[in-house]
Amino acid sequence: MIEPALRFAGVGKSYGEARILDDLHLEVAEGEFFVLLGPSGCGKTTLLRMTAGLQTLDRGEIYLRGTALSPVPPEGRNIAMVFQDYALYPHMTVYQNMAFGLRRHARRRAETDAQVRKTAALLGIGALLERRPHQLSGGQQQRVALGRAIVRDPALYLMDEPLSNLDAQVRATVRTEIKELQRRLRVTTLYVTHDQVEAMTLADRMAVLNEGRVQQIGRPIDVYRAPANEFVAQFLASPKLNVFDGTLERAAGTASVRTAIGTFAFPNPPSSLGEPTALRVGLRPEEIKVSFPIDESEPHLSVRLIEPLGSQVLVIAERDGTQVTVSVAADALPAEPRRLRVVPAGCAVHLFDRGGLALAHFISA
Ligand SMILES: Nc1ncnc2c1ncn2[C@@H]1O[C@H](COP(=O)(O)OP(=O)(O)O)[C@@H](O)[C@H]1O
Ligand SMILES: [Mg+2]
Repeated sequence: MIEPALRFAGVGKSYGEARILDDLHLEVAEGEFFVLLGPSGCGKTTLLRMTAGLQTLDRGEIYLRGTALSPVPPEGRNIAMVFQDYALYPHMTVYQNMAFGLRRHARRRAETDAQVRKTAALLGIGALLERRPHQLSGGQQQRVALGRAIVRDPALYLMDEPLSNLDAQVRATVRTEIKELQRRLRVTTLYVTHDQVEAMTLADRMAVLNEGRVQQIGRPIDVYRAPANEFVAQFLASPKLNVFDGTLERAAGTASVRTAIGTFAFPNPPSSLGEPTALRVGLRPEEIKVSFPIDESEPHLSVRLIEPLGSQVLVIAERDGTQVTVSVAADALPAEPRRLRVVPAGCAVHLFDRGGLALAHFISA
């Protein structure tokens, strides 16, 4: 087996009684852009700080290119970290901020200078080298923080929600820049965020973390299509996953799942599903097929609220205390719709057991 660039082997961390990380195992390949996605407070920053050597581990070990990191002091680890709040030195210029890490690594002055200027050009901040951080916009400050990390040419980048202090438009721009930069430099990157859009767009592979444990590891599209449990499905849904109680009904060779909003035919039910059971049924707003009947006699839910998002519109409908949120293309929405019907075919249906563990994912027939 090829040794992965970065390996977490049974890493655990507690603060007092609170177990923050529990027996964490992860492997990041050389050159990979790996995103750790999890809610606020799940231990993402703690994990990065332990990797950088700014915090100790209670259990387990972290390996960088096969070397155990515990005995290695932070400055000996060849790791660069980009912090959420940039952490630039306010009294230093952009140039000095970027050169600071290099000087510590005792390079020659001319070499340092060339490296800083090359990196600044790469990030489009070449004209800002004499400014101080307070003379920069948030986006520019974050580019300087990135520059300070990449100028050193480390073995690993750690990025702790580097976009969260930027406003929406700048965030999208810098996000694209980070992705392009990583593609170009191919430095192994561990990026943490609570934002599922960032994880989906940036990651080669991702891990979803909750309550100190890895919930699922995979390529974003695979995690999205087949979430391992209800938490992951919920976390990757926007605005939120619709969840209903359901019953599985089997007949010769076929099966269907009955819920309060409709019955979904299950084309190839695996035998592992067992006999008719009580289930939880998840449908993402963007994966439900709907129509807007004119005729009152058709079974339907009543439209309660419409939220235009631009090209997509969220429609919230209800019947007998059951609520469903769907996302439809704006141009597919009739004027002032009052009734919504869930079309039983073509919906992406996620089945979970009572404990929230995924049993199956299918497109209804
Ligand atoms: N130095 C500390 N002492 C005690 N508790 C801490 C310390 N640092 C973080 N925590 C707690 O550990 C948990 C994880 O924190 P953190 O790693 O910052 O989460 P995240 O980055 O995912 O939001 C939180 O509940 C936080 O309050
Ligand atoms: Mg954090």
